[in-house]
This record gives sequence, structure tokens and C-alpha cells, in this order.
Amino acid sequence: MEPSKEYVFKYKGFYFGAITTLEHVASLEDFEIKDSDIFIATYPKSGTVWTQNILALIMSEGHRNGTENMATMDRIPWLEYDMESVDFATLPSPRIFATHLPYYLVPRDMRNKRARIIYVTRNPKDVMVSYYHFSKFMNTLKKIPDFNLFMERFLSGKVLASSWIDHVAGWYSHAEDFNILFLTYEEMKKDLRSAVLKICNFLGKKLSEEEVDSVVRQATFENMRKDPRANYENMPEELAEKNKGKFLRKGTVGDWKNIMTVAQNERFDKVLGERMKTLPIKFVWDINDEM
Ligand code: A3P
Repeated sequence: MEPSKEYVFKYKGFYFGAITTLEHVASLEDFEIKDSDIFIATYPKSGTVWTQNILALIMSEGHRNGTENMATMDRIPWLEYDMESVDFATLPSPRIFATHLPYYLVPRDMRNKRARIIYVTRNPKDVMVSYYHFSKFMNTLKKIPDFNLFMERFLSGKVLASSWIDHVAGWYSHAEDFNILFLTYEEMKKDLRSAVLKICNFLGKKLSEEEVDSVVRQATFENMRKDPRANYENMPEELAEKNKGKFLRKGTVGDWKNIMTVAQNERFDKVLGERMKTLPIKFVWDINDEM
């Protein structure tokens, strides 16, 4: 069950997508880090675009007050994508990057607590369901209309960004090497204001009450969906078939219950359950769960 070569290549055990090259990915280990750099690291579908927008709103006054019309994708570029439109050298300080890289492929300089990393996790059943819908409209991903088949590929890590559990367990177990803040999608969903304040605190950014209110307001699902800077709808047609789906799809906790059967849920728990118990994360499977 190897993924099609058209869609991904493998470098040091990790599957990459179409918008990059082996040379670019291999060069990242030597990428020069500045102490002021900020990274958002995630496994796909865990709330990356959301966190990108929150960071853009926190860090850039022009983004927050709407005087600058710059897409989040350009303001907070992807480290591992090799895009001509983005020149890392011209990014204003502090530079902010997004990445799906596993802990062992990030620039070497990030270890020893250089730069700041915000790592966001989400309950993996919602991640998987979000990923399934996402792959239906992204031209860069292999289309697997059968959910059961998609689940098997997800569980065996035969998808872009490889195994969810390896990604999350890797970052958590190497947390001491990095200057890192762990957040969950579910805590952001439950109390966005507290999550924004946590991020501000981690980044040493002081915002007034009104500014925090403005960040929170603009980072809600409904408002981000309407914000062309934030909703990724300006993606080139060759990357995404826009009539087939949206980056901001449902934005809820527990959507997995609408698609997974009891048997699929049991299978999922059988494969990942034991390793999940070793993670220091209290998973929230339903928005009404205690956190
Ligand atoms: P769903 O497909 O479950 O709706 P990523 O950015 O890592 O690709 O993650 C995408 C997921 O984050 C999608 O989940 C998307 O809807 C959700 N998301 C994006 N912005 C959000 C927001 N402001 N509030 C809640 N969820 C958001």
C-alpha cells in the first residue's frame, strides 16, 4: 500500500507532498535560524491555518486592524514547500513559519531551545476525518473516496506527513530540546481567548484587552471563513479544486462520530489506543467532554 509516486516522495522515513523537492527538504537541516524565529508545527489537519491566522493577528498590527491585505500563506510561509513566490530572506522580523516536519527533520539550529515553536495537536479521529475530506479537493493529494481505505492508510502512516502517532509522540518526547508551547485544537475551540493569551505570553507579546478581543473575534471559524486573507481560498486552481471543498470545512470537535462506524472506531482504538495512552495529552473526543 505505497502512496502513488505522483503525490509524494519519502525522505528519511517521512512522506512529502508535491509542492516541494528533495533538495529543498534536505537543505532544511542546515537552514539558518534566528533566535527571534517562530514556528507553528503540526501534523496536517490539526488547526495549522487557524494558528497561522492567530499568530498573524497577534504579531502584525496591520493584519489585526485590516490595513494590510496580505494572505496568511505569504505572511507565514511553509518551511518545507519550495515556492518561488516566497523569499525567506525578505520576511520581516520576527519571521514566522508553518511546518508539518517531524521533530527530527527541522533545522538543526532549532535545538538547544533556539527559536520558539508552537505545536498544535488535535484528537486524531477528527484529524483523520478532516484529512479524508481534504484529500477529496486537494489536487496534490491522492484521492481515496473510500473512507475505510483512507483510514487504513492513515493508520499505517501511508499519507502525506506519515504517521500521526509518530509525529505527535516524536515532538512530545523531544520537547526538552526545544523552546516549545503545546496547544490543542480542542482547548482553542473551548476557550479561544485563553489560548490567545497563552500564545502572547509564550511570545512575550503584550496586547491590550481590545487588541486581544480583536484577535479572538477575527480568529473564530465564522469570521475566518469570510476572511480571504485567512481562508486559503486564494490557492491556485492547480493545487485545489475549490468547488469540491474548503480549508475551513466544519471546524468542530467530534465530527468523526458522523462518519466512523462502531467497527471503524474499534479498529482505530486497537491500532493507536495503546500508544496514545503514553502521550501526555488528555484527548477530547467531544466538545462536551471535560478538559
Ligand atoms: P475540519 O476539516 O474538521 O473542519 P489545518 O489547517 O491543519 O489543515 O486544519 C484544518 C482544520 O482546522 C479544518 O477542520 C478546519 O475547518 C479547521 N479550522 C480552521 N480554522 C478554524 C477556526 N477558526 N476554528 C475552528 N476550526 C478551524
